[in-house]
Amino acid sequence: METSQFIEETLPILQEKIDDVLAQNKAQTPSILQESMAYSLNTGGKRIRPMLLLATLKALGQNITQGFMTAIALEYIHTYSLIHDDLPAMDNDDYRRGKLTNHKAFDEATAILAGDALLTDSFALIGKDSLITNAEVKLDLINKLADAAGSKGMIAGQIGDVQAEGKEIDLLEMKEIHKNKTGELLHYAIYAGYQIANPSAEIKALLDEFAWTYGIAYQVQNDLQEVMWSDDDRGKFQHSDAALTKNTYPSILGTNGAIEALFANTTKCRTLLQQIKDIDESFDDQLLAGFLTFLKI
Ligand code: IPE
Ligand code: IPE
Ligand code: MG
Ligand code: MG
Repeated sequence: METSQFIEETLPILQEKIDDVLAQNKAQTPSILQESMAYSLNTGGKRIRPMLLLATLKALGQNITQGFMTAIALEYIHTYSLIHDDLPAMDNDDYRRGKLTNHKAFDEATAILAGDALLTDSFALIGKDSLITNAEVKLDLINKLADAAGSKGMIAGQIGDVQAEGKEIDLLEMKEIHKNKTGELLHYAIYAGYQIANPSAEIKALLDEFAWTYGIAYQVQNDLQEVMWSDDDRGKFQHSDAALTKNTYPSILGTNGAIEALFANTTKCRTLLQQIKDIDESFDDQLLAGFLTFLKI
């Protein structure tokens, strides 16, 4: 299936379900908290993680319905991570996705608490999901999400990033930070998809490698975009990461080196998808390959 068609069809369903989840909690949630959560959940995120999760399910021949709550839980965690990442004590960004960051649109206390609420609520979304009937799979999805997002996952990456600021680190150290900071949640998207679908161990291992490689490529592309943006765009987004105190792939490898790294990782992704296709003819490699177009620079 064409990835663009899949996304076109699936995004509105995902949005409807996000709206439903928010509406269900509305009566018991203070309205300012509800507004702040909804503001960041619904201000122009690409939804790449939930889409990857659902596409993995689909590529493995499964009905995507059973993946929606886990996909939303993952988007909740991603959204919380960005709200907190933008705070004055972290990256101190005033704009994200061309709009005011949460603490600028509301205030710092509200932004911190909206992040807290999204993080906490995410686990209950999976726990209460009636469509995943296998209790063992459900428990694993919750545990793995906690691992991916927590002290040995995304937050380990965030603290590494904060500590490395203004210091010179080598490529290996930066890779470790980025594997945690960005790679863990992207990896989880694909992990959750294949855990629900349950293909052979061999295919799971190849999807794992695809997920980690995709995560590296995603971060390299994210870094490259910042150095390649025109001054006009940079002004518009007022992105403090553009300050060169940050350790990024282009700052360590140079722009050309980073472009080569991006190419090497996307090529590896394609090879891995082909390997899965060689094992299972029915695997929709094209659907996942389409996600590499998000990595254009
Ligand atoms: C941005 O993530 C932060 C990183 C981890 C690189 P996304 O690029 O997925 O952000 P949105 O949700 O689409 O804005
Ligand atoms: C954000 O990383 C990653 C997480 C919130 C986990 P960055 O600080 O590098 O990304 P942007 O540039 O703010 O999106
Ligand atoms: Mg940051
Ligand atoms: Mg940031």
